[in-house]
Amino acid sequence: MSRLIVVSNRVAPITEGKSSAGGLVVGVLDALRETGGIWLGWNGNIEPEPTQQPVTESDKNIDFCTVALTQRDYDHYYRGFSNGLLWPTFHYRIDLSRYTGDDYAGYLKVNRHFAQILASSLRDDDRIWVHDYHLIPLGKACRDLGIRNRIGFFLHIPFPSPSVLTTIPPHRALVEAMCAYDLLGFQTQTDVQAFVDYATRYLGAAVSGNEVKIGDRSIKVGAYPIGIHPDQIRALSKQSRRSKPLDALKSGLQHRKLIVSVDRLDYSKGLVERFNAFERLLETAPRHRGKVTFVQIAPPSRQDVQGYRQIRRQLESTAGRINGKWTELSWTPIRYMNRSYERALLMSFFRVSQVGLVTPLRDGMNLVAKEYIASQPAHDPGVLVLSEFAGAAAEMRDGALMVNPYDVQGMADALDRALSMALDERKSRYEHLMEILRKNDLSSWRDRFLADLGD
Ligand code: G6P
Repeated sequence: MSRLIVVSNRVAPITEGKSSAGGLVVGVLDALRETGGIWLGWNGNIEPEPTQQPVTESDKNIDFCTVALTQRDYDHYYRGFSNGLLWPTFHYRIDLSRYTGDDYAGYLKVNRHFAQILASSLRDDDRIWVHDYHLIPLGKACRDLGIRNRIGFFLHIPFPSPSVLTTIPPHRALVEAMCAYDLLGFQTQTDVQAFVDYATRYLGAAVSGNEVKIGDRSIKVGAYPIGIHPDQIRALSKQSRRSKPLDALKSGLQHRKLIVSVDRLDYSKGLVERFNAFERLLETAPRHRGKVTFVQIAPPSRQDVQGYRQIRRQLESTAGRINGKWTELSWTPIRYMNRSYERALLMSFFRVSQVGLVTPLRDGMNLVAKEYIASQPAHDPGVLVLSEFAGAAAEMRDGALMVNPYDVQGMADALDRALSMALDERKSRYEHLMEILRKNDLSSWRDRFLADLGD
């Protein structure tokens, strides 16, 4: 049987614990657990010399093969080009993007290095599945080494429209490199369309159905919205029923309603706008004062990238200002925590809350939106308030309360509506969403992608 080789920058830690890992690691790990395979990527360490031979650790049916990066590679490939340019641009924040030729050269170099590592142990019938923006040119680097295997690429983050993408100086080379894959997967049809728009306009591609033809190459493209295993999440959410942190949360609430949000501390998540919306709720709907607590869990992320330090300071001052104004002796309106919790605990927090607030300014998918719903008790479910700019909106718009995260009053109104929603309406929204989550679950994401990648 052919082996599945997954390549991504970040690889799941062998011992799962507290995590601020983001959707990729969670999704890929759960998807690989069923099929087994090899997972190649960075081990999170920086060492003086580049790793020639990856270190392999096996856990059940998965071999984790990891390499370290040198400081220079980390600076140019990870911090510079991937997170200082591609991440902000692909999330429509060109004001935060920084391009340098050295970063781009470092990015290509690490991609070539990953390709060489792959080449050294590849079998003819291995299938390669490359993930996310750090590794866009990996397929091309593999082809340059003569690798003929099937190689698919899945982008976890949004693919921007051509007018935004073309602000990246080497945009053409990047998209041309994408054409070395056999299959390109995106989160939503909007992302597929943005890619097709670029390919037709800038590369003269011809499109028929799900095939894009450029010169003599033909690539399949499609939307493969990443999902979760809703019934596993449901079980997980009940696991910590009697844990100390959950008890502490509940006793701190003193029977108040709970609005909960969990995000990596990232400027794409719309946290400042969200805090302001919560304050607007207190201003415009006084009956909620002292009656509802907003818990925001936001583990810090990429703190050595400028934009992240800035958003952290901004949030601290926003939370401080709002709490300074509204806190009473027996009530703190916002509990803002820069820390992570184990996944099971997070799901148990979701389970006891009345509202899940997921309002990114841009997001590839956002698995928290899906996990929030899957964690709810069927007899008394909470309400999801969801940004129309999250990839998850494409599937969940009929069951969630949709908001524009730039509209502070609109978000406050949605919170008011969610907090007051009758049980019947909450149940019917929940049931509808669970049906969708079960249909488009994580296994179907993986199976559809791998079936289209073919042998
Ligand atoms: C997002 C990205 C992933 C990334 C994760 C965590 O989910 O799509 O590729 O791994 O954030 O970010 P980090 O920079 O810590 O790997």
